[in-house]
Amino acid sequence: MSCERTLILVKPDGVQRKLIGTIVSRIENKGLNLIAMKMLNVTAELSKQHYAEHVEKPFYSDLEEFITSAPVVAMVVEGPEAVSVMRTLIGATNGRAAAPGTIRGDYGSSRQMNMIHGSDSVESAAREINIYFQADEICSFNVALGSWLCAADEL
Ligand code: RTP
Ligand code: MG
Repeated sequence: MSCERTLILVKPDGVQRKLIGTIVSRIENKGLNLIAMKMLNVTAELSKQHYAEHVEKPFYSDLEEFITSAPVVAMVVEGPEAVSVMRTLIGATNGRAAAPGTIRGDYGSSRQMNMIHGSDSVESAAREINIYFQADEICSFNVALGSWLCAADEL
């Protein structure tokens, strides 16, 4: 098992709907470690960098219009298998299909207005964290209660 980092965004709909605190709480309650956070406006250029894999797809122009339409909150989240743990917590892309108990399943019913982004692999996470954060903006620290969150052989 490995300690991973993943890039999380509260998307413009999550910010507009006042769900930043709710989403941060869901991540903290899961026991993952929040090690960087900032609010920013995603520009068209940044959107094309972040969503490079989707730029040629038919839905990309709608995606860019959406992700640039209001601020986002970008975070780096760290923990054992953080990439897949966050994808499970986030739920399926389309809120109508996302399981109850997941963030998308509990707070939305849309494919586009799905509130939160999470990196889909360790490689994507490294690439995306680099896009949104400088190295000195990431505050990795020892969690005082860490030994109560998971056993030493799980790290
Ligand atoms: P995200 O990258 O934002 O975390 O979402 P995801 O992995 O669950 O889904 P992905 O396939 O990477 O798609 C990125 C975002 O594009 C929008 N989308 N629209 N119209 C469509 O067919 C379509 N497919 C995807 C969604 O807003 C999705 O979150
Ligand atoms: Mg994706």
